[in-house]
Amino acid sequence: MHAPRVIAVVGAGLMGHGIAQAFAEAGWVVRVTDADPAVRDTVHARIARNLEEAGGSPPDVLARVDVAATLADTVGDADLVIESVFEDVGLKQSLLVELAGLAPAGAILASNTSVIPISRLGERLVEEDRGRLLGTHWWNPPHLMPLVEVVRTADTRQDVVEAVVALLRDVGKEPVVVHKDVTGFIGNRLNQAMWREALALIDAGVCDAATIDTVVKSSFGLRLPVLGPMENADLIGLDLTRSLHALLFPDLDRSTAPSPVLDAAIARGATGMKAGAGLRRWTGAEAEAVRRRLDAHLRRLNAER
Ligand SMILES: NC(=O)c1ccc[n+]([C@@H]2O[C@H](COP(=O)([O-])OP(=O)(O)OC[C@H]3O[C@@H](n4cnc5c(N)ncnc54)[C@H](O)[C@@H]3O)[C@@H](O)[C@H]2O)c1
Repeated sequence: MHAPRVIAVVGAGLMGHGIAQAFAEAGWVVRVTDADPAVRDTVHARIARNLEEAGGSPPDVLARVDVAATLADTVGDADLVIESVFEDVGLKQSLLVELAGLAPAGAILASNTSVIPISRLGERLVEEDRGRLLGTHWWNPPHLMPLVEVVRTADTRQDVVEAVVALLRDVGKEPVVVHKDVTGFIGNRLNQAMWREALALIDAGVCDAATIDTVVKSSFGLRLPVLGPMENADLIGLDLTRSLHALLFPDLDRSTAPSPVLDAAIARGATGMKAGAGLRRWTGAEAEAVRRRLDAHLRRLNAER
């Protein structure tokens, strides 16, 4: 399989425009589309803003981002098609069938789903097309987060996995292969396991949401960029790790449903920064400051990598 040269991104929202930017910044031609014309119209402006904040040069990069109005114009000459539309199983399933018909027969098909097993999204594809389907799970913001989880199904061809891993390395990303198509892949399973416990602690009255953030940001969060949890287990010793688990695991939250803390907040309209309140109150300026603080932090860390 030859190296993908033309990249198509379908769905240009929060993730899609950043994925397009990552390829364009690395010199690839990217064709982008979105079902919503208002989203298509702002793709260049949103990428330009990201680049300006990073002190980059928008004209070069933007010239490589081609915004198209139709799916056919977006994927017709693509080597790799990444769908990044709403997290909706039926929508993604039917879109993938359409993309398989419109893209060249040799093009690789990828989904940016956060948690849905890729084989489920490929259920309506013919066997040959299931062989060229995999997951590329990018992290937000995609132009700044190095990791991309490359999720293979039982049907994904080995040469397809290898071509995508090589491409992602070429664009400066850090791909990892997820060898079993489990719900949530690796990163979201780890991340959401912590969120479940955090919400359970709030629900039990142990602490409030702000305290959770202080604990994480001022303790193990500081170590994480240089010491992964498995390295940490070896550092403290697996015998001590085992003793901690024997004492602690029986007491950890094992809910299989979303937290009642979320249900209560959502019921009163507190859905997060977009609503001005979530687990705490947010002004528009405070929410924007969080985004800028995160981007600046990631740019600093990336410069050191
Ligand atoms: N937001 C995150 O942090 C994050 C992280 C990793 C992965 N993801 C995944 O990425 C995908 C996109 O998420 P997002 O946060 O960018 O959502 P978003 O709502 O910002 O963007 C989705 C876009 O898809 C477009 N769309 C919907 N149906 C379409 C169609 N048929 N054809 C073309 N465009 C269509 C919408 O108009 C919208 O602009 C989801 O699968 C999500 O789970 C999100």
